[in-house]
Amino acid sequence: MLKVGFVGWRGMVGSVLMQRMLEDGDFKGIEPVFFTTSQTGQPGPDVGVEVPPLKDATDIEALKVLDVVITCQGGDYTKQVYGDLRASGWKGYWIDAASTLRMEDEATIILDPVNRKVIDDQLARGARTFVGGNCTVSLMLMGLGGLFEADMIEWMTSMTYQAASGSGAKHMRELLNQMGALRDSTAAELADPSSAILDIDRKVTAAMRSGDFPTENFTAPLAGSLLPWIDVKRDNGQSKEEWKGTVETNKILGLQDNPIPIDGLCVRIGAMRSHSQAFTIKLKQDVPLDEIEDRIAKHNDWVKVIPNDKEATVAGLTPAAVTGTMDVPVGRLRKLAMGGEYLSAFSVGDQLLWGAAEPLKRMLKILRE
Ligand code: HSE
Repeated sequence: MLKVGFVGWRGMVGSVLMQRMLEDGDFKGIEPVFFTTSQTGQPGPDVGVEVPPLKDATDIEALKVLDVVITCQGGDYTKQVYGDLRASGWKGYWIDAASTLRMEDEATIILDPVNRKVIDDQLARGARTFVGGNCTVSLMLMGLGGLFEADMIEWMTSMTYQAASGSGAKHMRELLNQMGALRDSTAAELADPSSAILDIDRKVTAAMRSGDFPTENFTAPLAGSLLPWIDVKRDNGQSKEEWKGTVETNKILGLQDNPIPIDGLCVRIGAMRSHSQAFTIKLKQDVPLDEIEDRIAKHNDWVKVIPNDKEATVAGLTPAAVTGTMDVPVGRLRKLAMGGEYLSAFSVGDQLLWGAAEPLKRMLKILRE
């Protein structure tokens, strides 16, 4: 029976992982050991099987006895522990949600509905380090996997509409506090149907720009606005989030030697936990739209093609419709005015499920096959 250590299982991504593993009965047949950075010795969580008291997540000796470590603790933890654990001679499987190791040669980015073959090849070569991809990248590939599989894409842009959860739990709270502050700033006017909308708008703008508007985490208003920058700047003017779209996609697909150009612009918007993306895709050939839809729809069990009409789109292709589900709807599929090789598409996906926890959960299952 695999001895599996869980680190960071109480955080946002970790909690989603626990919930999904409980739903699917994944704790049966493994020996789970729960780790903590602050509560060593306290009882472990109830996961339906017996677990020992919490162990210290920085204790290399305690980690060394494990077959698998799954961490959702974040990049700082990975930096602190991974090198020492490997240096101690540990040959177990490290499954990580953080980006720290993603682009290292020893790491395989995991998204098995898309790159099971890459994962299997790496396992056969003795790879021991598996890392979940960036959320927008994983969600894009879950949606458009059929087009990549058929080698139909010459280049692509992805313009993102990323939810607050991508920044963390505190940011989600701040977004709601910002929304509340905007509403509160105009409560009297909103209650009066005869009040002037431009007065309301002036008050909302003043509230957003006032010193006491809650912006500690986002550093700027997000509610009623947007932030066209995610993560740090790179030398070429890309944000790091945009760079990930380029390099991670090709690494996941095993195309590092002959990469598909993928670039775009990443934007934070006021959604809670589902990321959306608009794609412009240059196809290698003018393929009929029904074939494109067919390839997208058949690629995996979770992608859903949404008909390109208003009713279906507003009902099914929004964060409000998708959050909390495993579905990855893809819609707005049409040829652009530039010609038959130019395709537009729009997708939505829960950033905490396929974007974070699910690939880790499934990697553990692969190790158990
Ligand atoms: N970097 C992503 C975001 C989340 O900021 O939305 C993690 O993949």
